Amino acid sequence: MSLLSVRDLGLSLPDRSVRSHRGAPRRLQILRGVSFDLDLGESLGIVGESGSGKTSLGRALLRLYEPTSGSLHFEAEDITHWSQARLRPLRERIQMVFQDSLSSLNPRHRVEDLIAQPLLAFGRASSRQAARAQAVHLLERVGLEARFARRYPHELSGGQRQRVGIARAIALKPRLVVADEVVSGLDVSTQAQILLLLRELKAQDSLIFISHDLSVVRVLCDRVLVMRAGEVVESGSCQQVFDRPAHLYTRELLESVPLPDYDPDWVGKTPAEALPG
Ligand SMILES: Nc1ncnc2c1ncn2[C@@H]1O[C@H](COP(=O)(O)OP(=O)(O)OP(=O)(O)O)[C@@H](O)[C@H]1O
Ligand SMILES: [Mg+2]
Repeated sequence: MSLLSVRDLGLSLPDRSVRSHRGAPRRLQILRGVSFDLDLGESLGIVGESGSGKTSLGRALLRLYEPTSGSLHFEAEDITHWSQARLRPLRERIQMVFQDSLSSLNPRHRVEDLIAQPLLAFGRASSRQAARAQAVHLLERVGLEARFARRYPHELSGGQRQRVGIARAIALKPRLVVADEVVSGLDVSTQAQILLLLRELKAQDSLIFISHDLSVVRVLCDRVLVMRAGEVVESGSCQQVFDRPAHLYTRELLESVPLPDYDPDWVGKTPAEALPG
C-alpha cells in the first residue's frame, strides 16, 4: 500500500513580489502536475536547481499549503482539502526537518523543551518532566550529549541544530519524515554523521530527502524525483536515473554538481572511513 500518493498536484501562491492595489493578488503557479507514490519504508530524493519547487512540494505534502489542483492521499485518505483542525492528528505521523534550522526552532526555548513540546502536545508524555527525560534520550539517539538539553538554539552549531531538528521530528515516531536540505552548509564530516543518522531512521520510517546534492541522494535514497520549474522532469530508481539519465536537464544537473565520491558501501562504516581522502 502507498503511504503517500500524489496525483497531478498543482500549487499556486499569491505573488509576494507585487503589491496589489485592489482585488486578489496575482497568483504564481509554483507546482504543476506532480505525481508520485511513496511506500512505507521507502526513501525518495527530490532534486532540482534552486527555485524548482522542492521546498514548496515538501510543504504541500505536509499540507502546510493547500494544493490548488490534483490530489494528495496519505494512508489511503484523501487529505487534499482537509482543514487544519482535521489535519492535526495527522501531524503526529508526518514531520518535516526544515531547511533553515535557526529560524525553524523557537529561539526562546531550550533544546529540551523544543523536543518536549510535541511529546506533550500529542499526549506522549504525562508531565513536562517526563517529556524532558524523553528529550534527553532522543538527543542521545541523534548523537548529542545530555548537556545540550539546557542550551538555546543560538548556542549550537549548524550541525547540532540540525540534529535537534531531527530529534524533534522523530520524537513522535512519524511514518514519514520530510528532510529539506538538512546537510547543506555543513562541513563534510558533520554531513556524513547526519546522513548516517537519516540512514538509520530510514530503516523504520519513510523518508523524503530534498537536496540539490545528487551524490548524497544517490547513497541515501531508493528513488529520485527530478524537478524543474515546478514540474517533475524525470523519476525512477536512483540507479536508473543517475546511471542512465533520460532527460538532458538531469544530465546537466549531474554534471553541474561536483560529486564527492562517497563510497557506496559507506553504511555501517564510520564517517571517516566512508569519506574520501
Ligand atoms: N510563499 C511563496 N509565495 C510566492 N512564491 C513562492 C513562495 N514560496 C516559494 N515561491 C516561489 O516558488 C518557486 C519555488 O520555490 P522553492 O522554495 O520551492 O524552490 P526550491 O527548489 O526549494 O529552491 P532552493 O533549492 O533554493 O531551496 C520559486 O520561484 C519561489 O520564488
Ligand atoms: Mg528549498
